Amino acid sequence: MKTSEIRALFSVVSRPEVVSLAGGMPAVTALPLDAVGSMIGELVSGMGAQTLQYGSGQGDPRLRERICDVMALEGITDASPSEVVVTVGSQQALDLVTRVFIDPGDVVLAEGPSYVGALGVFQSSEARVRHVAMDDDGLIPEAVEEALLESRAAGDRVKFLYTVPNFHNPAGVTLSEPRRQALIELANRYDLLIIEDNPYGLLGFEHEPLRALRARDNQRVIYLGSFSKTFSPGLRVGWVLAPLAVREKLVLATEAQVLCPPSLTQYAVARYLDTQPWREQIKTFTELYRERRDATLESLAALMPAGTTWTRPDGGFYVWLKLPHGLDAKLMQPRAVNAHVAYVPGIGFYADGSGREYMRLSYCYPEPDRIREGVRRLARVIEAELDLHTTFDTVDTGTFRAVGPGTRTPQVPDVESYVGPANRDTFKDDRA
Ligand SMILES: Cc1ncc(COP(=O)(O)O)c(C=O)c1O
Repeated sequence: MKTSEIRALFSVVSRPEVVSLAGGMPAVTALPLDAVGSMIGELVSGMGAQTLQYGSGQGDPRLRERICDVMALEGITDASPSEVVVTVGSQQALDLVTRVFIDPGDVVLAEGPSYVGALGVFQSSEARVRHVAMDDDGLIPEAVEEALLESRAAGDRVKFLYTVPNFHNPAGVTLSEPRRQALIELANRYDLLIIEDNPYGLLGFEHEPLRALRARDNQRVIYLGSFSKTFSPGLRVGWVLAPLAVREKLVLATEAQVLCPPSLTQYAVARYLDTQPWREQIKTFTELYRERRDATLESLAALMPAGTTWTRPDGGFYVWLKLPHGLDAKLMQPRAVNAHVAYVPGIGFYADGSGREYMRLSYCYPEPDRIREGVRRLARVIEAELDLHTTFDTVDTGTFRAVGPGTRTPQVPDVESYVGPANRDTFKDDRA
């Protein structure tokens, strides 16, 4: 196990002078906090015997019913509450699925780049991650097929394909309709299991949600969902939808891990879905995120130097930016922090050490004006980096040196050593 690129930024992003485009924290202040507060208070005073008690390992039956209603919004109409396991965020769902399927040395196919929290889980189970190329339409099915056949020919056991089809973290792209169909056909042809991780699916800006992969195949797709982005990440409520045989193992695994998911937060989510206008709240969130996405894309277009490219998300939280040729986002990071702007270097989203020329920008948390200021600072840092690059061919940490034979290994600075020790108590970012 190792520290993720995002954890390494903990101490930096909580400083008020730094514009953080790093963390993926949902804008929970857009929730009706008083209404949610009284709802939770009433739950405890009215139903304390249940809400403060242990519950079922599989999760509260009422909540599992409501989860099926939520999934119907993405075309999953055949799900039964008995196939749902409630988890401590979809992060625990990822961990459970990995425990059930992975033995050390097994191969997991995953987009390149991929969600950092999933990579951490796969690595801690000693799975080998093989990245598969994606483009503006998401994962490329032909590349999946090639990776699968090559791995199998090499004698590797490919246990599953892990994919985030909607508003990808970190790439910001969405799997197109034809590719969804192609992936399902491929899964059937090659008997491949798909883990569909979908925390952002209802946060689209331009169109109704696309039909989930699970809506097209109820045997080969295991679906992971979350209330972290549509309601609150602090409640830590997510879920897995899996065929019954798998569901049984998942319940055993979760009982071994946490006995049962927290009762109070499960009741809170179920009550929220029963009594509050949650669909309107999702609209409020998407309006707010759309405005922040627009601020990001407009400022990038106005300010970024030639040679910089980026994705254009139509939902979710993230833009994936590629630096001009030769620049390294990890090496540049201390200079960006010095200029009071933070991002996550792309290297954190690959299991194989690639991605140095990329960075993830999150627009979910800062207000639009702060985003504009952050992009302005970032553009200046990139321009300065380009100047240095042209002058010296490569750049080092703070001191510059010309490159001669044998001197090409750059010193990668540790952000903590640059900004001072992390203060874990004041950490405000998330792992998103
Ligand atoms: C793709 C993806 N999967 C899973 C998670 C975990 O979410 P949670 O555990 O809060 O449900 C995140 C969080 O950012 C994510 O982006």
